[in-house]
Amino acid sequence: MSSNLASKLRVGTKKAHTMAENVGFVKCFLKGVVEKNSYRKLVGNFYFIYSAMEEEMEKHQNHPIVSKINFTELNRKQTLEEDLSYYYGFNWREQVQLSPSGEAYVQRIREISATEPELLIAHSYTRYLGDLSGGQILKGIAQTAMNLTEGGTAFYEFADITDEKAFKAKYRQALDELPIDEATADRIVEEANAAFGMNMKMFKELEGNLIKAIGIMLYNSLTRKRARGSTELATAE
Ligand code: HEM
Repeated sequence: MSSNLASKLRVGTKKAHTMAENVGFVKCFLKGVVEKNSYRKLVGNFYFIYSAMEEEMEKHQNHPIVSKINFTELNRKQTLEEDLSYYYGFNWREQVQLSPSGEAYVQRIREISATEPELLIAHSYTRYLGDLSGGQILKGIAQTAMNLTEGGTAFYEFADITDEKAFKAKYRQALDELPIDEATADRIVEEANAAFGMNMKMFKELEGNLIKAIGIMLYNSLTRKRARGSTELATAE
């Protein structure tokens, strides 16, 4: 019997998806406004979040429900390590920090793993299916916006998945075949909405950094122009 969880998740998180797409940081990203320092902070947060998610999923490798969604070819921890070493250098571990919203996200993952592990499926769905869906577009934007030539986008590359569309179909089928009742399916959808909310909080937090960085850039370029202008005036006199 099918739980219909794949379409329940798609329909049940549609509104949250639209809201996430409309957060300033995400909108700026899509328009090619990506500031390296804000972006590497996001990669840093993702590092802790995916590490927690992948570690907790692994703990439940014999769980009758969670194990069915543990596709290790999706794992991002290693690719995030590569990207962090690109953005921060060899000693990235000493520099990378978890932001307050990232901390709450990680705590939630640890908490449900200990109390209601089947809710981990909601976190896997929210991040990995999103990564598989928009990944290639986001990779291109990041490369152009930050002038990346050799590295910094390993996160978007799924070396062990050759056909992303076919993989998503397989993932959705696995969701549908989970041996769960309606109440559990509803709780997973609810948790997926909470996961979207956690992502939004993180993006909003970075929005503050981004605005500050744009402000500094504008200020610097204006003061440079003014300084140039005054030299020009001085020369003219
Ligand atoms: C940058 C803005 C975004 C764009 C342009 C975007 C675009 C898309 C598109 C076109 C799909 C449909 C793919 C398909 O039908 O196979 C999709 C699916 C999805 N996206 Fe996004 N997305 C964005 C942001 C996000 C965010 C921030 C999240 C979560 C944190 C997310 C999570 C998902 C999920 C879970 C799906 C799978 C939906 C399903 O079929 O059940 N997306 N996205």
